Amino acid sequence: MLKTLLNEVKEYKKASLAAPLWVALEVILEVFIPFMLSIMVDQGIEKGNLNVVMVTALFMFLAAMLSLLAGALSGKYAAIASSGFAKNLRKAEYENIMNFSFRELDAYSTSSLITRMMTDVTNVQMAYMMIIRSCVRAPMMLVASLFMSFFINRRIALIFLGVILFLGIVLFGIIFIVRPIFEKLFLKYDDLNRSTQENITAIRVVKSFVRQDHEIDHFNKESDALFKIQRKAELILALNGPAMQLSAYTCIVLISWFGAHMIVDGTMTTGELLSLFTYIMSMLMALMMLSMVFVMVSMSLASGRRIAQVITQESTLNSPENGIKTIQDGSLTFESVYFNYVNDKPDYVLTDINLNVPAGSTLGILGSTGSSKTSFVQLIPRLYDVTMGHVEVGGIDVRRYDLQTLRDGVAMVLQKNVLFSGTIKENMRWGNPQATDEEIMEACRLAQADEFIQKMPDGYDTYIERGGANVSGGQRQRLCIARALLKKPKILILDDSTSAVDTRTDAQIRQAFLEQIPDTTKIIIAQRISSVQDADQIILLDDGKILAQGTHEQLLRTSPVYRETFEAQQKGDPEHE
Ligand SMILES: Nc1ncnc2c1ncn2[C@@H]1O[C@H](COP(=O)(O)OP(=O)(O)O)[C@@H](O)[C@H]1O
Ligand SMILES: [Mg+2]
Repeated sequence: MLKTLLNEVKEYKKASLAAPLWVALEVILEVFIPFMLSIMVDQGIEKGNLNVVMVTALFMFLAAMLSLLAGALSGKYAAIASSGFAKNLRKAEYENIMNFSFRELDAYSTSSLITRMMTDVTNVQMAYMMIIRSCVRAPMMLVASLFMSFFINRRIALIFLGVILFLGIVLFGIIFIVRPIFEKLFLKYDDLNRSTQENITAIRVVKSFVRQDHEIDHFNKESDALFKIQRKAELILALNGPAMQLSAYTCIVLISWFGAHMIVDGTMTTGELLSLFTYIMSMLMALMMLSMVFVMVSMSLASGRRIAQVITQESTLNSPENGIKTIQDGSLTFESVYFNYVNDKPDYVLTDINLNVPAGSTLGILGSTGSSKTSFVQLIPRLYDVTMGHVEVGGIDVRRYDLQTLRDGVAMVLQKNVLFSGTIKENMRWGNPQATDEEIMEACRLAQADEFIQKMPDGYDTYIERGGANVSGGQRQRLCIARALLKKPKILILDDSTSAVDTRTDAQIRQAFLEQIPDTTKIIIAQRISSVQDADQIILLDDGKILAQGTHEQLLRTSPVYRETFEAQQKGDPEHE
């Protein structure tokens, strides 16, 4: 995991090195200042030597200025390194997500991918910033201040050491207790994120089922649980403050006590006492900082792991090397095809499918919801790969084609189709970026979309809102069909793509297909038998198996299920729609 992540910060190696180096300089200068102060007090002020006061003051001023500069530079480089790191992490994640096949998309939910690209990256970015700054600053400050204290007065430095050990044990003890609570907290955050995102995305559904109160209740419960965990963690963490205060005041009292005696004895000077005060404060602050850094960095480990998982996730479906770049024709063959979404499950979603569809013919697919119609057609453009057997297009196994060639040759209008925000023309060019206006209009005429587009105020330049919110369901379906047609595919698959279109328009679309794209193999999944009854062959799917197969007339004779469904639909019985 670390290697994967560090790979993304390589570009910012220089900044990542510069930041701690400037921090080191800053610390050295900061430690130097109290030492100068002690000289100023002892040699200058006490002895009334103005020259010494001037010189030490000048040195202190210079040191302060330089340390300010070093601090600013270290801040600058740390910002460059950590935000550059974050940028690269996001880029690497995004690029790999774009390579995900449908199988990987099934495995990661959308909300989890978004969290991994946003929150997790921010966590790692903060942690990295701390590692290259605070992780250098705090230990150095601690050691350097302790060293100076020993240099000034051994006995008092030993007291410091004792107090630091005490505070260190308390702080890290607290972390030891709090860390698992924080981990639980982050998991809860994830849960809440997920359910919130789901419900806000589907807010129209929630409202139409009048589930608001139920969802609000649910949200409040989760939010409450989060509050409780957080309160517990913060209560324990709040002990940090008193422990720190206790240590600080103990030190002050002890130094004052011993210091006063030593000054009277003449073994220590006032200036030295003054600088010791400064050093102990720096040390305690450094310790505090170190403990916070420790919490943050260990928290971000989980984020780092989640990011690395996305970056290294390999797509299970790849384009073959030297894949075939031309498709002979739109003929389609299924040979002993078995398919499963989850690899090692015993029951298949598709079982022993054998089928031959000649180029240019029309195949109708019928079946109840969940009978695997969608799964069946997804195998053709390789949205998923078969588990066993093989699928051939143009007489060649689909896995031997270059993936781009295959997907350009097999256009599929997904059941859950979407339009993107942009004009109608822009949306159409998703199908084919080079399409001319004339070609776009022709495809829309074929899909019976031209008529309503012409009626829109801006015609083909009408702006489609996000998700196609400003067109009706039937209009959206026709636009999606037109978009698929622009690819001039060898095989065109419509997965229940005319469900929201009225019967007459539906028939017109099929008629247009028959006349104008005779060489394209058409695969039509439908609920209404009327949508497929003039197909060259129809298959009836049931529970992932072909239950019956033939033309409309043949099926009426041979399949009781088909006949009953047909008769029921003729009468317009909604039960069988
Ligand atoms: N992405 C998926 N992951 C796991 N199982 C799925 C997935 N998509 C569909 N299934 C399952 O496969 C079966 C067939 O679904 P599907 O092909 O969508 O049927 P249909 O299109 O006929 O309604 C169903 O049992 C469904 O739950
Ligand atoms: Mg389906």
